[in-house]
Amino acid sequence: MYTHVPVMLAEVLEYLKPQPGEKIFDGTLGGANYSLAIASAVGPQGQVVATDLDPLAIKNAKEKAKKAGIKNLQIVQDNFGNLAEIAEQHGPFDGAVFDLGLSSAQLADEKRGFSFQGDRPLSMSFNPEEAAGEETENILRYYKIEELTNIFRIYGDEPKAYSAAKLIVAFRKKKPIKTTGDLLEALAPILKNRGKTNPATRIFQALRIETNKEFKNLENALAALPTALKPGARIVVVSFHSGEDRIVKNFFRLESSDCICPSAVFTCTCGHQKTLKIITKKPLEASAQESAENPRARSAKLRAAIRL
Ligand SMILES: C[S@@+](CC[C@H](N)C(=O)[O-])C[C@H]1O[C@@H](n2cnc3c(N)ncnc32)[C@H](O)[C@@H]1O
Repeated sequence: MYTHVPVMLAEVLEYLKPQPGEKIFDGTLGGANYSLAIASAVGPQGQVVATDLDPLAIKNAKEKAKKAGIKNLQIVQDNFGNLAEIAEQHGPFDGAVFDLGLSSAQLADEKRGFSFQGDRPLSMSFNPEEAAGEETENILRYYKIEELTNIFRIYGDEPKAYSAAKLIVAFRKKKPIKTTGDLLEALAPILKNRGKTNPATRIFQALRIETNKEFKNLENALAALPTALKPGARIVVVSFHSGEDRIVKNFFRLESSDCICPSAVFTCTCGHQKTLKIITKKPLEASAQESAENPRARSAKLRAAIRL
């Protein structure tokens, strides 16, 4: 069973404003909740083109769409980081949405190591058949102490990043780190007495982000937006990590400015012209009710913009 409760779906629809006849890109199909809602809004004359890397998400979405009688959802197994190429084939689009990170179904999948519950294989790729970035096991086997420290610090906000990296490097000399259990064993000395949330959350999140090159994919997708979208198209991004939200914020800022010369320059030499108008001054957060009902929604940040 593939289950995922969508986060901020009402707000996504409010800002994306899908209209009958439009063609919308959904970069993160997941449980297909956004895609199916958008497919109904654009109606039979419109279309949703949705990507996901995960074959399980694709299979589930196809079944769900068939059951719901939805015929205007085109599902493509691809990386949204390839948006430039995807848009050449399927675009241009009247809107684009990204709901970043992983789904609850992926977290619960016992064949993968997204969660530290139980002893699972250390595979955190969104596409287990073809890793988009590095295999998690290889990261733990080959990365140098400095590289591991950086990943834990930047992607995990882990306060003991260096200690965690040092423990991993010492552990792997004695025994390869192949399962989530091995990883927890290696990290045991820094995981004691760590408050209420599971102490390994930050390390697992960091490894997942590195495995899937999540920041790079997001940057590539954003960079493709100006050409992938029609003028007037809307962009909505929901993120769950401060680093991702920063990437979106900075991109929106840059693309909504006519000049991007350094502030010390008096006369503009860059010739940059804005391509976006920001429509969420501050990022939107989930309502108190949604956050109470779905803990995943608590860290969600929604930003939206219009292609000029
Ligand atoms: C939070 S879920 C999306 C949930 C979805 N909005 C829904 O309504 O059910 C994120 C999904 O994005 C996919 N994903 C993450 N990075 C991706 C990428 N670079 N390209 C394509 N899909 C990606 C994951 O495999 C996962 O299924």
